[in-house]
Amino acid sequence: MCEGVNLIMTQCTHPVFVNGIFNSEKLRSLLAPDAKILVVMDDHVSGLYGAAVKKAFDTFVVDWHVFILPSGEGDKSRESKQKIEDLMFEKQFDKRSCSLALGGGVVTDLVGFVGATYMRGMDVIYMPTSLMGMVDASIGGKTAINTKHGKNTLGVIRQPKAIIIDLKFLITLSDHAYFWAFSEVLKHHVIADAQGLQYLLDHKDQLLAKQFNAIKKMVKKSINIKLSVIENDIEDQGQRALLNIGHTLGHALERVSDFSISHGQAVAWGLLYESRYAYSCGCLSERDLHVIQHVIETLGLVIQHDYSQLAILKAMRWDKKCSVGSVRMPLIRCIGQMLDREFIWHTVDMDLMAKVLSS
Ligand SMILES: NC(=O)c1ccc[n+]([C@@H]2O[C@H](COP(=O)([O-])OP(=O)(O)OC[C@H]3O[C@@H](n4cnc5c(N)ncnc54)[C@H](O)[C@@H]3O)[C@@H](O)[C@H]2O)c1
Repeated sequence: MCEGVNLIMTQCTHPVFVNGIFNSEKLRSLLAPDAKILVVMDDHVSGLYGAAVKKAFDTFVVDWHVFILPSGEGDKSRESKQKIEDLMFEKQFDKRSCSLALGGGVVTDLVGFVGATYMRGMDVIYMPTSLMGMVDASIGGKTAINTKHGKNTLGVIRQPKAIIIDLKFLITLSDHAYFWAFSEVLKHHVIADAQGLQYLLDHKDQLLAKQFNAIKKMVKKSINIKLSVIENDIEDQGQRALLNIGHTLGHALERVSDFSISHGQAVAWGLLYESRYAYSCGCLSERDLHVIQHVIETLGLVIQHDYSQLAILKAMRWDKKCSVGSVRMPLIRCIGQMLDREFIWHTVDMDLMAKVLSS
């Protein structure tokens, strides 16, 4: 008889919320005082929080270093990954060392990937500072960098050691970055929580005014939805694909705009047009289409752009989800219901998509 193998199931890292991150016991408890620490920030976040980081780390870490990269999607790159790795080699970081990503989704995606491959894996702590980072990028363990072949084309799935969220970072976040992260919140609610959509509409003013009570509820809800989708599919073999709704068109638009359209803007637009497409091919009800359109319009998550539909259709073929000769995407079929794997994937009818995009 064969002996079984004990499989240890990987758990998804759940975030903890703190008030005052640099003084938090949570952060201290995670850092061994004698381990080397690398803090990675972009230059914008460093300008705002660099002094606080220095003050905190000087008091409780012996050997810490900082790496600052230019802010923006362009530096989520192979070059940045290599620079961070070279710094860690130079400073003799080993497997006990830890890297800390303090920033938005660009920084957490990049640092997560570096940490996954350095010495075959080192501890990484995420301290997301943008709303996109808090509700989406830091959750679930997807790490990535962009290449000339497309967005997020290199990466792995690996859970960080911890995710620490301090909502106070949102005070300094630009209105643009804050506002457009709502597209990912909206996506989570479309997937799993029809009533949550109403919460967004009912609390629109408080949310847009960054009132913390309202934000905290929304952020927690959004994270819980993402975790509930991922928890049974950490390696992205099934239901997790649902989290890509809005992203097939969204990534194509980001690409043709050469990333001048932000991820959040592109996803909002992608959600709208993927919903219209799903309705046109008879998969989404008229009622659900109207609800999605209504929430997008009421929240103001609408963008205008002049990129040609031909360029967007072409860019869709670069998507990671494509299989040979055809474009596949997860389809929005109904609001608030998790679907089984066999109902999620759809091979795109490119002629119909062209019609939808030109409508
Ligand atoms: N891994 C995932 O599952 C996942 C999910 C969603 C998005 N993402 C990735 O996340 C990225 C987008 O994330 P993002 O919108 O946070 O972008 P970002 O990291 O570029 O941050 C946006 C801007 O906000 C600034 N910023 C961040 N926090 C700030 C703060 N507290 N105060 C002032 N300025 C601040 C940054 O310097 C930057 O200029 C994309 O690369 C996307 O692919 C990953």
